[in-house]
Amino acid sequence: MIKKYRFGKPFETDAILTQMQEETEAPCIAQGSFQTNGHFSFTYLMDDTDVIYGLGEANRGINKRGYVYESNCTDDPNHTEEKVSLYGAHNFIIISGKQQVGMFFDYPGKIRFDIGYTRQDTLTVSCDDADLYLYVITGESAYDVTKQFRKLIGTSYIPPKFAFGFGQSRWGYQTAEDVEKVVKGYRENGIPLDMVYMDIDYMQDYKDFTINPERFPDFPSFVQKMKEQHIRLIPIIDAGVKIEEGYDIYEEGVKKGYFCKRADGSDFVAAVWPGWTHFPDVLNKDAREWFGSKYQILIDQGIEGFWNDMNEPAIFYSKEGVEDLNEAMKAFVHSLEEPQEQAHREDIMDNANALPYEVREKMNRIQNSPQDYERFYHKVNGEMVRHDKVHNLYGFNMTRAAGEAFSKIAPDKEILLFSRASYIGMHRYGGIWTGDNQSWWSHILLNLKMMPSLNMCGFLYCGADLGGFGSHTTRDLLLRWLALGVFTPLMRNHAALGTREQECYQFENTNDFKHVIGVRYRLLPYLYDTFVKAAKENDMYFKPLGFEFPEDKYAVATEDQLLLGNELMITPVYTQNAIGRTVYLPEEMMFVKFMPDGTILQEEMTRGYHFIDVALNEVPMFIRKGKQVSIVDVAQSVAEIKPETAKVIGYR
Ligand code: GLC
Repeated sequence: MIKKYRFGKPFETDAILTQMQEETEAPCIAQGSFQTNGHFSFTYLMDDTDVIYGLGEANRGINKRGYVYESNCTDDPNHTEEKVSLYGAHNFIIISGKQQVGMFFDYPGKIRFDIGYTRQDTLTVSCDDADLYLYVITGESAYDVTKQFRKLIGTSYIPPKFAFGFGQSRWGYQTAEDVEKVVKGYRENGIPLDMVYMDIDYMQDYKDFTINPERFPDFPSFVQKMKEQHIRLIPIIDAGVKIEEGYDIYEEGVKKGYFCKRADGSDFVAAVWPGWTHFPDVLNKDAREWFGSKYQILIDQGIEGFWNDMNEPAIFYSKEGVEDLNEAMKAFVHSLEEPQEQAHREDIMDNANALPYEVREKMNRIQNSPQDYERFYHKVNGEMVRHDKVHNLYGFNMTRAAGEAFSKIAPDKEILLFSRASYIGMHRYGGIWTGDNQSWWSHILLNLKMMPSLNMCGFLYCGADLGGFGSHTTRDLLLRWLALGVFTPLMRNHAALGTREQECYQFENTNDFKHVIGVRYRLLPYLYDTFVKAAKENDMYFKPLGFEFPEDKYAVATEDQLLLGNELMITPVYTQNAIGRTVYLPEEMMFVKFMPDGTILQEEMTRGYHFIDVALNEVPMFIRKGKQVSIVDVAQSVAEIKPETAKVIGYR
């Protein structure tokens, strides 16, 4: 059962399009209480065994207990354990214990989920303004609650089939030759590949919807040539539009008043990759339609997929922020010029920490600063809305701009689309990649844990930068991560500028990579069908074990394995120098291991704990009792998969 409550005057986020009657009485949840004296808070006394699920793209575990999280879309490339905000804002939680209650806090500003952080037994959800919609969903189980919520928020985005192939990306590919080198590297080594991602350097001076003509002479022919080799090029689109005389998109946006404005009505200016930019006001319907229509420029050149980036929106610094820092620096330099400060000055020159606290603070906070988010406005239905109040809707609406445009520009085409920042509702238009992770072993596990939580919030087409974006990867880390990536809908290797080259052919014994990625292609028809079914039936692709086995405390506590569809359980290895791992089987299952010689090892296993041996070049999974999956022969691309080679493996 779902009930909708209104507090104050909520902003219409469009997270939920289903029309619902609002309750006239205040919500009542056993062990919970609401406060709405100016601010909003919900407090709940948790039982020891209560599990709190949800929050989509968030740090830490599948069970969110024991920490605090803030929905506040943030461009932060250091996903260390203490971080409270990542790129997404997914305000849906499920309290699963004596009662099964889902709660969606439809609030587009910063909102805090203290889940046993301040007091270990207390859950507190709080935000500054008591203006929000709250949806309360009760059901038989956490899984049941999730399915009801998913139905409420509408069908998840389904990408084209090629998007289930493997993609290679790197910030640093600049030219057509760079792309060709990647394709050659993969094809020559027989490692399957379907997509090469184009990061910011394909553009002319980082201007959205432009192509650098020196780096890509005759781009449409190049796109075509790649397609003939079954390779799709997937360009990045950034939120900020470069300020440059003569750049049509900039000029048009200014003329039509489609950029975000300061309080005085001037266009807000922020620095991102292109230097000074304006942000398209994607919360304004007309501006959204206008920005979305620009994707056609690339679609007309043969492009069939995009990744939307920097759409928290990320701000390196604003004009105001720089002026502010400049003032502080000037005052500081002035103080150094005082003659009596000589000794102090030397001290300062020797020790950077001696910079006054205020100056250091201003320097540290110049990027993505909360002050900047208070400096610009959106025009929504004729009214000016300050950005910080609706901050978490920006990435959603940038992606919605594209998604809505695609249905007009190319109604018969399926177009790949995923985003970095998001809010619930965006799941109808695109998927998500989990942003700038690092080549750390702990991030394989973080990747795994985010997946089912994202599914709870509607985001099915998801994945992480395999191999790690920041830091230098290693061969073993990449192989282990790929063996998880075999199962994630988005399977993409991506790395940052300046890090070790991590295309699979850069390492010795490329056959191991060929084999692991090959397993993806052998399972691809099954994975794709399972995905489409999950999307259409408002079901999950990845589930925590506790969703199917809520009475089994070992299953509920298992956070490093996932159920996939109704047939599989995945158990990737995520520690360095491991020879395998311990797995928990909540029921008897068939252990399946894809061996490097192409054979498939199958072994029945009883319920309980087992240690499974898994070498670096092997891919493990389990088939549930009474289930089967079909497996095809390896292919070099999705288009080359031969359905007639399908054979079934299963566990009767
Ligand atoms: C951001 C993105 C990353 C991209 C980089 C350059 O950090 O998250 O994926 O490579 O910008 O465009």
